[in-house]
Amino acid sequence: MHGDSILTDAWRRVAELASQPGANLIRPLFGADDQRARRFSASLDDLTLDFSKTSIGAETLVALLDLAHAAGLAGFRDRLFAGEAVNTTEGRAAMHMALRAPADAGLRAVLPEGVDDASGLAARERDRMRRFVASVHDGSLRGATGQPFDTVLNIGIGGSDLGPRMATEALTLARGPLMRARFLSNVDGHGFMALARELDPARTLVLVASKSFTTQETAENARAVRRWVAGALGEGAVGDHFVALSTNLKAVASFGIRPERVFGFRDWVGGRYSLWSPVGLSIALAAGWDAFQAMLDGARAMDVHFQAADFADNLPVLLALTGIWHVNGLGLRSHCVLAYDDRLARFPAYLQQLEMESNGKSVGLDGHPVPRPTCPVVFGGPGTDAQHSFMQLVHQGTSVIPVDFILAAEADHERPDAHRMLAANAFAQSEALLRGKARAEVEAEMRAHGASEPEIQAVAPHRVFSGDRPSTTIMFRRLDAYALGRLIALYEHKVAVQGWIWGINSFDQWGVELGKVLARGILSELAPGARPGGHDGSTASLIARFRALRGE
Ligand code: F6P
Repeated sequence: MHGDSILTDAWRRVAELASQPGANLIRPLFGADDQRARRFSASLDDLTLDFSKTSIGAETLVALLDLAHAAGLAGFRDRLFAGEAVNTTEGRAAMHMALRAPADAGLRAVLPEGVDDASGLAARERDRMRRFVASVHDGSLRGATGQPFDTVLNIGIGGSDLGPRMATEALTLARGPLMRARFLSNVDGHGFMALARELDPARTLVLVASKSFTTQETAENARAVRRWVAGALGEGAVGDHFVALSTNLKAVASFGIRPERVFGFRDWVGGRYSLWSPVGLSIALAAGWDAFQAMLDGARAMDVHFQAADFADNLPVLLALTGIWHVNGLGLRSHCVLAYDDRLARFPAYLQQLEMESNGKSVGLDGHPVPRPTCPVVFGGPGTDAQHSFMQLVHQGTSVIPVDFILAAEADHERPDAHRMLAANAFAQSEALLRGKARAEVEAEMRAHGASEPEIQAVAPHRVFSGDRPSTTIMFRRLDAYALGRLIALYEHKVAVQGWIWGINSFDQWGVELGKVLARGILSELAPGARPGGHDGSTASLIARFRALRGE
């Protein structure tokens, strides 16, 4: 049979299963199989993905695995690891795996003009980073006034901010940082105003992280911080305090950053995959080189697993297929991520870029509109906080929203009771979503508490939980740097797998461009005396009102 019709049939089979009565029910699956939790879980070392609290049964799993095969997943994965230009609209490889591989791993990236020894190049730059980090930590590299650096300020946005910021927080919240790390992303000047109050320029090492080195917000913030350093320490101090992390060495040079303070990478590293590259320098400075290296090692372990494991045991594949079932089978358009760990408080924000910038697409690889929904809306937060805010909607709202629960079994603090309480809440949430609470149960409980019949009739409907709401749980022993790297890479590959199955390019982000271009035009029109023009009525009147409110 032709590949296209195999794929069409595979999608049809998934749709058929999803349209069967009770396709969304989970509880009966547990009733029918007392080994379900084991059968619908997969592990890599101490990391387990439990997707048994979904309505994926044996037949559905087969259909989803068939879909993965029919979509050519193995071929896409091979092309990814072979360094081919899987980012077809930009003609680039997506070889972030080379950043966490040993120097001699032989990972290559195919470029229009030749082939990069990607793992070799990455290892050489990593070595420079390691020596640089050591010299900052041992005080041999100091600021212009001769004082050692005690703070690293990372200026960057999107992938040049979210990954490093999330990982730095994850690795330093419990044990404390080796250096204080601060992040400046938004072009809203209030952010830097607050930082400038807190930081001492003489002791601040500034990293300008920008893959392109053309990003408007980062450039503006870098200029502001440059003025702050130069104003306090003199123009000559800038060279001692600034570091650049970029692929655009020309632009870096014109900003005046010394060549030995520039850490480069190639455009086969996408922005949202760049925390493993020099863009992760803030992580290494704040959490230490060993932690940074362990994070790379954890990600590498997931790469090896993703490449080698059968799809039926392959964590990124299974996580991706679970999402495909929810989006395309059951028509669920949102996805919630709850990490029961304060150190991962920024993980959902990081994932929003990874998932939605990668797979927020409606045009397929063939240039035609995709025939089915792609990326859901991803949101989340730390548990238990989320339970006291938006989880009401997840339990009783009109939309069914699948949840990923993320939890470490051991904590890095001395309050085992608190950690058990945290874990109890994570397990209880997924159990509540699954189990629900029937009307009869609610009424019996109210009666037992002495409620009157009218009160029961009035209130009971509000206390009912439908149940059969899906979740997956990702659990591992402890959140060390290795586990963090593995977790991030799990989601990176999940996103790629989903993109391939949806038939889209997960590695470009053209959707961010139009707004950038329009903002440049509007910026010039906001200058005093400028004349706006060529806008729709709303935008024109907002610009006029903005200027009037400012008295301009
Ligand atoms: O606008 C989106 C984006 O291009 C992201 O993909 C990227 O992570 C971010 O901007 C920052 O880009 P850069 O690292 O080039 O400054």
